[in-house]
Parts: sequence; structure tokens; C-alpha cells
Amino acid sequence: MPSGSLPQRTPAIVGNWKLWGTRAQAADHCDRLLALLPDEGRRPAAVGICAPFTSLDLCVEKLSGSGVGVYAQTMHQEESGAFTGEVSAPMLTEIGIDGVVLGHSERRQFFCETDRALQEKVAAALAAGLRPILCVGETEDEREAGETERKLRHQVQEGLEKVESERLAEVTIAYEPIWAVGTGQVATPEIAQDAIAFVRALVADRAKEAAERIRVLYGGSVKPDNAAAILAQPDVDGALVGGASLDPESFARIIAAAAP
Ligand code: 13P
Repeated sequence: MPSGSLPQRTPAIVGNWKLWGTRAQAADHCDRLLALLPDEGRRPAAVGICAPFTSLDLCVEKLSGSGVGVYAQTMHQEESGAFTGEVSAPMLTEIGIDGVVLGHSERRQFFCETDRALQEKVAAALAAGLRPILCVGETEDEREAGETERKLRHQVQEGLEKVESERLAEVTIAYEPIWAVGTGQVATPEIAQDAIAFVRALVADRAKEAAERIRVLYGGSVKPDNAAAILAQPDVDGALVGGASLDPESFARIIAAAAP
């Protein structure tokens, strides 16, 4: 099991730095975060950070032995080839990376990431020994049109299509409603619970036992003052945190909010 992971369905709090962090900033951030976190065995959640490629090796070094997992924010499905600008799973595992975020809504929106490519990426990540975090979620228009479940069904079924049933529980899914990402408009705990229970039911259609073990996180404007209510929902297994993860103090407070 990669570092930063606890047995299944203990919560996970993962900070997605997006396009933030020179190496100097990343080094300072890791130092400050470690100073704030309880020892690994006393944390209420598994903890991870998703850094830009240029800071990943430094984060691995800084966080080594701390139990904080280090994740990439995307990767290509092929191991090598004529794909200028891309990075592959073996390149990530070579430098000690634990996992990778796949299908973030910003990658889908701005970089044309498709469900078809994502199903290859999820399988390639698992095959290489990386823990994938597959992001799914509806737009505001889709929610208002009553299309949330249709969208989630499509994204979850497509994204997991090439994962064998026995390995489904090794994937983490992050439900990130697009209208809540970076907007300050957090989903209500009820919306998060309903959508995540629906995602879990979709996994159960493939494999009942995996559905009980798979982690499903919520993401979208999670802050220290709203985290506890969302994390208290029975199907919510943690959070993928954007903006609030850039400040080690607020990220540490969100981790503390995972305590039962
Ligand atoms: P914010 O927490 O900034 O809304 O971002 C959420 C997110 O996209 C995490 O991947």
C-alpha cells in the first residue's frame, strides 16, 4: 500500500495544488505542513498532496517517512511515444510518486481530456502501481436540468471500464461538482452525500464488495469551516481540496475536521 494510505474507508484528505508552487514554495509548504500535522498514527485521515510535475521529486524527498502521499495531477496513458509534453506512469513511479489525479474537470474542460482516454489512464495507473483518483461531476446546467445522475453514471462507468472488478477498490473517486470548484459555493452536505451514495451504487453494480471498500471523496470549495459537516456524511470518505490546501494551516484544519 502506498505511503499516505490507511486501511480502506478511513478518510483521505488530499490537497490539489493545481498550477501553484515553484520548488521553493513547495519546499516551504512541505516543511510548514509537517510541523502542523500529528504523527502518522494519530492522524484522523490519510493525507496526500498533488503537486506540479516540477516539484514532485522535491515533495517526495521532503515528505519521505511522514506518511503524506505525493500525487501527480495528470499523466498520459502510454508508457512512451510521440506525445510531446506528456509524462507517463513509469516516469512517476520512478521518482516515488504514490498516485495520480485523473480527469479533473479542469483537465476535461481546458485540455480536452475524454472519458475514452481516461479509461486507459486509470488502468495504466493501476498497472504501474499508482493509486488513481478519478474525478467526476456535473455542471450547474446539468444539475438544473436534472442530468446529474446521467452524467455521473456515464463518467463512472466509462472511467472504470478497464479496471477488473478485483481491483476496483484500489481506485479513489472524487465527486467534484463543477459549479462548486473554485467558486466558494460548496455543495450542501446533503447534495454531497446523495451524489456520493449514487457513485457508490454505480460501483456496486460492478462489484458489491468493492463498493463498500472504495473511497469516494468530495471536492469543491472545501474550507476549514465547512469541512466537518461534509466529512460527517456516511458515504463521504474524505475531501479533495483545492484553494484551501495552499495554506498549510487551513489544510491542517481540514485534516483535523475528519476526526469523528
Ligand atoms: P477548490 O477547493 O479550490 O474549489 O478546488 C477543488 C478542486 O478542484 C480540487 O481538485
